[in-house]
Amino acid sequence: MKDLTDFDVKNKAVIVRTDFNVPLDDKGRISDDFRIRESLPTIKYLIRNKAKIILISHLGRPKPFFDLGKKEEDSSYKEFSLNKVARRLEKLLKRKVYFISDKLDSRVEQKIQELSPGSVILLENIRFYKGEEENSSSFAKELSKLGQIFINDAFSVCHREHASVVGLPKYLPSGKGFLLDEELNHLGAIRDNPKRPFLVIIGGVKFNTKIKFINKFLEKVDYLILGAEIVQKILDERIKGERDNLSPETLSEIDKMDIESRKLVFPEDVIIEDKNKKIKNVFLNNIKESERIMDIGKDTVNNFVEVINKSKTILWNGPLGYIEDKKFAKGSLSIAKAIVKNKSYSVVGGGDTSSFLEKYKLRDKFSYVSSAGGAMLDFLAGDVLPGLKALDQGPS
Ligand code: 3PG
Repeated sequence: MKDLTDFDVKNKAVIVRTDFNVPLDDKGRISDDFRIRESLPTIKYLIRNKAKIILISHLGRPKPFFDLGKKEEDSSYKEFSLNKVARRLEKLLKRKVYFISDKLDSRVEQKIQELSPGSVILLENIRFYKGEEENSSSFAKELSKLGQIFINDAFSVCHREHASVVGLPKYLPSGKGFLLDEELNHLGAIRDNPKRPFLVIIGGVKFNTKIKFINKFLEKVDYLILGAEIVQKILDERIKGERDNLSPETLSEIDKMDIESRKLVFPEDVIIEDKNKKIKNVFLNNIKESERIMDIGKDTVNNFVEVINKSKTILWNGPLGYIEDKKFAKGSLSIAKAIVKNKSYSVVGGGDTSSFLEKYKLRDKFSYVSSAGGAMLDFLAGDVLPGLKALDQGPS
């Protein structure tokens, strides 16, 4: 796989796939620009070396507005527009960022050609085109015409078979940017040779996405802590036989799981909110249907901290409670503080967990903060990420 520095970029148009999928607050403003700042070394290198930089990113999971042809009528169009990212990038770079808010056509190509070397251009949300998620080759080919070199600096999207990730390397000489390289070095080291005991903590609510990692991680780690929502769903299926709303793949993952494994650390008690908004600390297996899990309970925090204290490498993805509300953030906060205090090699990934730590000024106390969430788990679980494979294979 080539590096950015292997190319002579002077006076060339370089397409860079970044991940500006940043968290937004309830007013649609950027609440954490970590991912934008992480992409700066690659962009600044290209500016210094007089390339014309064409940045591509997605934001959220919007409809393909450009292909639906009715963008302004949809209220979420503005929410998913990368315009706000262009303005933030401009501030961080202290230079003009040309934002292409329209669908790509020959006028856009013309405009890009007219700009001088060192110019930075950001295209509108790439998921506004249906060709992106459909991984259309004709769309990738069209995109490739905008540049002469392709740099992938978006490790966090490398698990997606999308046109701007796996399609572009088929048409252009390609390589990895500085951020992608850094992710591979740090995450590669703990995937291949973690200092043991190795603990992985998987929280969050994306049950269907996360379930596939549990069996894979059980083969690799010494301890696996799971969040209460995930465990509740596993136990509902294994003990109560509740199989509705679960895909065949999810069911097969749960069925083959060794829930007696000594590596698995389940929460025992949780904080719930009942239908009268009353908050209680209860055992996980005593939850009623009308009650919602909001945080991990006191005994669980103590058990988890004990495991943290025994571990030498700790990887955390996904909050352990409803952290948006301060009163339910206590469990996750105690876990974060215990990890930092333990001084083992600690890695955090995933937008929610990472932003949460930043809010409490704990993020920079972790040994490594990955810009990725799902891609990080895929990579560490041993999967070959399609985006990396495409860079390895190069143009066909
Ligand atoms: C992420 O936030 O993990 C990446 O930007 C990928 O986003 P996606 O899950 O919407 O593909």
